[in-house]
Amino acid sequence: MSEMSFTKPLLKGDRVERARLYKAPGESMFGFQIACKTISDGISASKLAKEAGAQFLDINCGCPIHEATRRGMGSAMLRKPRALAKMVAGIAAESELPVTVKIRLGENDKKINVDTVVEFLERAGAAAVTVHGRTAEQRYKKAADWDRVGDVARSHSVPIIGNGDILTHYEAHARLAESGCTAVMAGRGALIKPWIFKEFKEGREWLLNTQERVGVYRLLVSYMKEHFGDDERGRRKAWYFFPWHFDFLTRYRPLPEALYGAQSREHPLILTRQDLTDPRVGETPEGLSWAERLLRCEHPEAHGAMADALWEAVSDADALAALERIGSERVVCWEEEVRAGGRDGDASRGGGLGVGSGGEKADREGIKRGRDRGGEELERG
Ligand SMILES: Cc1cc2nc3c(=O)[nH]c(=O)nc-3n(C[C@H](O)[C@H](O)[C@H](O)COP(=O)(O)O)c2cc1C
Repeated sequence: MSEMSFTKPLLKGDRVERARLYKAPGESMFGFQIACKTISDGISASKLAKEAGAQFLDINCGCPIHEATRRGMGSAMLRKPRALAKMVAGIAAESELPVTVKIRLGENDKKINVDTVVEFLERAGAAAVTVHGRTAEQRYKKAADWDRVGDVARSHSVPIIGNGDILTHYEAHARLAESGCTAVMAGRGALIKPWIFKEFKEGREWLLNTQERVGVYRLLVSYMKEHFGDDERGRRKAWYFFPWHFDFLTRYRPLPEALYGAQSREHPLILTRQDLTDPRVGETPEGLSWAERLLRCEHPEAHGAMADALWEAVSDADALAALERIGSERVVCWEEEVRAGGRDGDASRGGGLGVGSGGEKADREGIKRGRDRGGEELERG
């Protein structure tokens, strides 16, 4: 309780004003996220972010990976709410950008201190706080605790952005309405369905067919080529992310609200195991095209093959034809191997939709990923 009392100012002689984060309806915002542990690093980052056109600076204090916590950053900052708030106050006082903070409920079930942390951050001048409804020690197997997130949102005046297990626009709207949060955030949902924001914005489902998804993935390839370069070197850099991204992209299933709305209120869809096909949406494995079966395949070799095909294709039609061919030649075999190998349930994928091989398995099986991406790395944030 002592941490809850604010007898001492966070910054000497200062009363910290909270900058406002204003988002016009229907418009998107662009922000930078950093992890830091000193005021000076935060201020330098804020200047760089401002120069690059960011509208806000977010400080990641939810990241549980060792790389961050061993340096006292990420979720390690939740251990000392006063020190965290001092840092945020110091950055917010100098930053031209509003400063937001991303946190978790606490370090573990026994150390849930989200209320204290939010109280301090509010006082420190944070423009908003994103609360991921899990502790740093939890994996993704348990559902995010939205009751707790809602309690936090209702008992503090700083805008709260709720986070955890959102995969569809109807889950997003239900969480927003029930929790009293100012906004909600999607994490893995955006990796599985990069078009998820369009769904949120338009308040309707976008059930993309094979061809449309190939178009989206090719757009991603075009951004990677633009960013990393359309040559062997660029490709090598893109390969740190692209085959790996299929661990998420292959989890896409059409989940119309009419069929899944009620189910999603019982248990988050992102944590609900989905089979290859769902007869309720009129699908059978035999009825799927080879390309569609490939796009749902959990085998890491399939992910590598899809990345190759999409990178090399000269048009969407060309890519689709390549996926159809690869699927017809190899997907049955890959599916069998996945079945025989069991589902190893990489925690970051959530134990739900099409859980299967994660980065570690891919490396074991000799797929070139650029560098090791173990389970922990997949569990950032
Ligand atoms: C592969 C991966 C990378 C992540 N990287 C970040 C990150 O850089 N910053 C961050 O705040 N959260 C990161 N997160 C955590 C998510 O933002 C989010 O808090 C978490 O996945 C819970 O939301 P979800 O249930 O909607 O996925 C990452 C999550 C995953 C799976």
